[in-house]
Amino acid sequence: MARIEFLRTAMKDITQTGSVWESSRFLIRKLLDPVDWSAATTIIELGTGNGVITTSILQRMLPEACMTAYEINADFLELTRHRINADSRCTLTDDSAEYLSDIYPEGSVDAVISSLPFAIMDEELQETILRQIHLVLKPGGQYLQYQYAPTKYRMITRRFKRVRLDYTLLNIPPAFVYSCVK
Ligand SMILES: C[S@@+](CC[C@H](N)C(=O)[O-])C[C@H]1O[C@@H](n2cnc3c(N)ncnc32)[C@H](O)[C@@H]1O
Repeated sequence: MARIEFLRTAMKDITQTGSVWESSRFLIRKLLDPVDWSAATTIIELGTGNGVITTSILQRMLPEACMTAYEINADFLELTRHRINADSRCTLTDDSAEYLSDIYPEGSVDAVISSLPFAIMDEELQETILRQIHLVLKPGGQYLQYQYAPTKYRMITRRFKRVRLDYTLLNIPPAFVYSCVK
């Protein structure tokens, strides 16, 4: 049912969603496994879609940790709200990912987990968002990002100290996962 809802919502504006199917559990595992869940207390998720990754983050998060989840599509935001079942550790916002520093001071965030569709975004917006991600992360903070093609490799490696690129075939479509450390 959640997958059909994802498809229906995504088809209304595919140029903003960049995908027609929610992430698989295999992709979610690759994306979330590198995070140091025993230490992360301030977490950001970018582009929640129907909340499939949001719920997995909440399952792994410490009871005292908190996260802000960004989603600009109102229908997806409602699907995420429904899915997280009023977990008070998660704040949802319809702000765009380009405004992270409106909420988070420089160097205050442990992990940013993103499914933003950089490949279909305006170049300037991509750069602004990546700059914001880097700015709000603590030194040693982690940035996890999946993409369907490794076309943003240079843009990402230019900014981060350590970058590991992994992939999974077990997703529609297969996906690459960046695991970066500031
Ligand atoms: C590829 S979908 C990922 C959905 C879900 N996280 C998943 O993995 O199945 C990307 C999501 O990013 C959202 N998005 C696009 N631009 C955004 C922006 N500037 N700020 C926040 N969310 C954005 C889209 O509306 C869409 O829901």
